[in-house]
Amino acid sequence: MPTNHLNIRRCLPESIHFSSDGTCSIQDADTNQAIEEAAALLRADKLVAFPTETVYGLGASALSSAAVQSIYSAKGRPSDNPLIIHIHSLSMLERYIPPNLSQPVPAAYQALIEAFWPGPLTLLYPLPNFSPFASEVVASLPTIAVRMPAHPVARALIQKADRPIAAPSANVSGRPSPTDALHVYTDMLAKHQNDPDWHLTILDGDQADVGLESTVVDGVSCEGEVRVLRLGGVGSDAIQDCLRAAGLGQVKVRVYGKDWQDQQLQAKPSTPGMKYRHYAPSCPVLCVQADSSCSTSLMDSIASSFQSSLSKKIGLLHLETSHLEALCQPCTTVSYSLGSADQPAVHAARLFDGLRNLEQQGVDLILVERPEDDFIWESGIGSAVWERVGKAGGGLKSSLRFRP
Ligand code: TXA
Ligand code: MG
Repeated sequence: MPTNHLNIRRCLPESIHFSSDGTCSIQDADTNQAIEEAAALLRADKLVAFPTETVYGLGASALSSAAVQSIYSAKGRPSDNPLIIHIHSLSMLERYIPPNLSQPVPAAYQALIEAFWPGPLTLLYPLPNFSPFASEVVASLPTIAVRMPAHPVARALIQKADRPIAAPSANVSGRPSPTDALHVYTDMLAKHQNDPDWHLTILDGDQADVGLESTVVDGVSCEGEVRVLRLGGVGSDAIQDCLRAAGLGQVKVRVYGKDWQDQQLQAKPSTPGMKYRHYAPSCPVLCVQADSSCSTSLMDSIASSFQSSLSKKIGLLHLETSHLEALCQPCTTVSYSLGSADQPAVHAARLFDGLRNLEQQGVDLILVERPEDDFIWESGIGSAVWERVGKAGGGLKSSLRFRP
């Protein structure tokens, strides 16, 4: 049951509408009240957790150092890992990051904004001179990450708060990102239950549609290139297609870790996700690919490679019509479906909930079944899904492929 200091407020996203000039109207009275009160908290430099279409965010005013510091401490986040700011409109973007002749915004951004905003894409901008943002948002970097979320509750909240909102994913640092309000509640209760003075309002706006974080893109650090620093809700192939359609086919799209790697960058926090273990439940995670001709000694191999014992409770995050599930039947005690093998968007929407669900059931090891078709996990949102699985398991070495 929710405690006094963690307050979940139900919001009905379908009751929120935006007119063509962006003005927001909210039909449901409780939703309206919850968002108004949450916006007032943000204006008073307090924290609010809110839904976005990617994952839930833990937000505070990007203009206040005290507010932004409270985000880092609520999550236990290292202070050198910068935050994304969330805006509700292009006019808000221009108000806080005005166009600057000495640092022109790349042409590619216009095409990307038209195609993907509001939505799961984050763009890096040069930090403006005389920046209005709290210095803690950017953690000493010369750029600031900006996103316009599509979720109606997020858009209404930011509009009513009338300021850019800094928001990382609302998990405790290192844990799988939250895709519903209860995930936020569980993480924050575990971290803050002994502090009766700590308070958080969580707006509940249903399960996140995308289920993985936004794609983080840097189009300002290297001329003629758009660099994907973190794979996410928008695939790198969709970015390339969008640029081509806008007559910008000469702009190179390069994905960090795949098309380029940089020792220096790797040592710096500006490389999202490289420096800290991410997305991990409390038990080990192993990515497994099993085909139809898999041998029944599979579980022995997994157990020995993981120095685990078959008497342990294994959680299986499996595909529908799974080869692995059939093989694991005798020893698997808990399973959760990632959906059908050819639907990477469904894998994305279910992954974090699946990791959390199995963890909660007390498993000692989670096996995640990867589709046989390489194309599914190498392209589009699929590449982001399997990158997250790799990080949850502590790196690619935890990926096994079984053939007889
Ligand atoms: O979908 C999302 O992006 C969610 C929702 C809440 O909007 N937010 C999110 O924030 O995933 P967070 O803090 O969990 O991840 C933001 C990533 C981090 O890996 C951080 O290093 C990177 O963005 N980042 C932020 N500012 C950056 C900058 N100036 N340069 C490079 N990377 C940056
Ligand atoms: Mg995060």
